[in-house]
Order: sequence, then structure tokens, then C-alpha cells
Amino acid sequence: MQTSAEDEPHSPGQRADKGRGAVLVTGGAGYIGSHILKAVEESGRPAVAFDDLSHGFLEACAWGELVQGDVRDTAALISAIERHDAVAVIHMAGLIEVGRSTVRPDLFWDQNVQGTASVLAAMRATAARRLVFSSSAAVYGHDPRGRWSDLLTEESPKDPASPYGDTKLAAERMIAASCAAFGLSAIALRYFNAAGADSSGRLGEAHHPETHLIPLTIQAALGQRGPLTVFGNDFDTPDGTCLRDYIHVADLAGAHVAALDAALEPGEFDAVNVGTGRGRSVFEVIEAVERALDRPVPRTIGARRAGDPPSLVADPSRAAARLGWRPRSSSLDEIVASAARWHAEPLYGDEGSGTPARPSARRA
Ligand code: UFG
Repeated sequence: MQTSAEDEPHSPGQRADKGRGAVLVTGGAGYIGSHILKAVEESGRPAVAFDDLSHGFLEACAWGELVQGDVRDTAALISAIERHDAVAVIHMAGLIEVGRSTVRPDLFWDQNVQGTASVLAAMRATAARRLVFSSSAAVYGHDPRGRWSDLLTEESPKDPASPYGDTKLAAERMIAASCAAFGLSAIALRYFNAAGADSSGRLGEAHHPETHLIPLTIQAALGQRGPLTVFGNDFDTPDGTCLRDYIHVADLAGAHVAALDAALEPGEFDAVNVGTGRGRSVFEVIEAVERALDRPVPRTIGARRAGDPPSLVADPSRAAARLGWRPRSSSLDEIVASAARWHAEPLYGDEGSGTPARPSARRA
């Protein structure tokens, strides 16, 4: 992978100016978390990942430091916040597989809701006062009266279609109440479909198992796995496949830095969509991958996947007004090109190798 000097991670001796206050990033060794570490460090703040490495990778903490721990361990969180003088927490750690949440909701409530309670308790016990929470478009669910062209605003009905979405909504409500009661300030960022990879080539998407459309489509085209199954082509959308709002992971990471800087009163909570406002179909994603790689994507048409709404597209206007944030690198072609570069030569987490990259060493 090619890297440029400005993409080099900080060495410990060149760490960001401590004057801006360190940020603890729970789940920082994960796909989105690793890109957030980089964005936080580039904003001039030290970034500290807090991650149990159950789903993340040591190699993904290329920017910032790693403290290994379970987010439900409040004492460990307090110790990490105090040791690094963190003034803010970005809380990402949680389970994300929507399908698995329907068969093991207990694990999702424990990890996602108890985990958030633990973070809030740790913040109350320390000087960390600003929280940015990793929420999801899954809090909205499907409005049967909606049309494919409707955009979701933050006020759209909340009726999650999965236990995963339920836990994100419950966590948001717990955070809002805790802000009011204890004087914290927080922003929940409702992610739409994060995709793509960092321009340095050092960070990219690595899930076990991988369930997301863009990596699966690229890996099918590269022959790293079998044909892609298109989950239904009979939806009420222009080409019959589902519409999603794909957001480049670097843009999504930038929204977290904007949320750290947002003007909020003590006690204030707000929720903000992070998307582009543009829906793309599964077939459009396949065409973009074929353009980027100049080769066909082997695919079959399969049945619909349980719980997939026809369309999930953000109205991103509050993010612009509240955070001054707009996507910069989120055209579908830019997203797919960056993801294709990563999957051609991933530095860690390569499922196809049969030996998933796991940390060989620990940092504290
Ligand atoms: N899809 C396929 N074939 C596949 C995988 C996906 O056709 O093999 C389709 C899905 O049916 C869907 C679209 O591609 O229409 C996107 O699916 P993803 O699994 O990539 O993403 P989701 O929209 O299901 O979910 C993602 C995150 C969730 C988050 C949600 C918010 O995984 O955590 O976006 O929009 F809640």
C-alpha cells in the first residue's frame, strides 16, 4: 500500500497537543473507530482507544494508543479516562450485527445498553463531560406508509425493526436523561451506511463475518469469495433493489470531531443524522464496483433478507446546521474506489486467508 508522509501515524514523541484534551474512543480498534482515532489525532487531540479486541484489531490502532478493556468494566474506564486526562468520550463499543440481534437479543442489551450505562457512570466519576455516541439509522425502522423517495429526519418515527435498533434507541434515551440529570452534554450520531477506507491504505473494513454490501461485492469481483447474493429485486424502488445512503467512513469520522466541537450547554443532548441525502440501490453499487475494478461482479438474485427496509436515506440538514458538517468524499465512486484499494491488499482482518489477523502484541 502506498502512504504519504502526511498519512503517517504520529510516533509517541510527536503526539497531538495535549492542550485540546484527550478523547477516549470505546471500540476504537474497530472499523469506524480506527478511522475516528485518526480524525481525532488530526484535530490536535490525543486519541485513546478503549477496546477488548473481541472484534477489533490491534493493527487498526495505527493512530492513538490502545487500552485493552471491556466497556462494562466501569473501574477500568475511569482509570483510562483519568490516566490520559480525557475530557471527552466517543462511545462506539457495541454489537452491530442486526441479524444476530434477533437470535441473541440478551447479548445486545447487555453489551449496548449496559455498556452505555457504564460509560455514563465513568463520566460522572471523572472530568470527561462531552459524549459522542455511535447511534444508527436502525432507530427509525420502516414506515409502511413511507415512499422510497422520503428522507428520514431526526423527527421521523422511531420504531426499530430489530433488537439492535431497540438497544441503540434505549441507549440514546438513557444518555439524554443522564445529560439532563448530571450536566453532561452529548450528541448521538445516527450513522447511515458507513463504507470505504482511509486514503493512507493503513485502515479499512474488517468484520468477521462480513455482512455488508460493499465489501462483499468487491470480494466477489476479486474472486475472494463466491458470487454476491442480491437480497431481493422486487422492492417498491426504481430498480427493485433496496436504497441505502452510503457515507465514506472518513466523512463519518469527521462528523465525530465536529460533534466534539459542537456548542452544547451542560445538560444538553441532541441526535443528528450522518448521511448524504442520496440513496443508492444494490444494483448501483454493483455497477460502481464493476467500474472501479473493470471486471464483472458474479451475482445471483436471492430472497429478501429479514428486516431490510426498502429505503433508508438521511435528511442530513441538521448535521450541516448543528455541526457545520457536510460529506466531502462520499460519492459512490470515491467510496467504492477506496474500499477496492483496501480489499485488494488488506493489512489485517483478511477473512479470505483463513487466518484472521489477531493482535500479536498488546499495548496498554
Ligand atoms: N445486501 C445484499 N446482499 C448482501 C448484503 C447486503 O443484497 O450480501 C443488501 C441489503 O439487503 C441492503 C443493502 O445491501 O439492501 C445494504 O446492506 P448492508 O448489510 O450493507 O447494510 P444495512 O443497510 O443492512 O445495515 C447497515 C449497518 C447497520 C445500520 C444500518 C443503517 O450494518 O448497523 O446500515 O442504515 F443500522
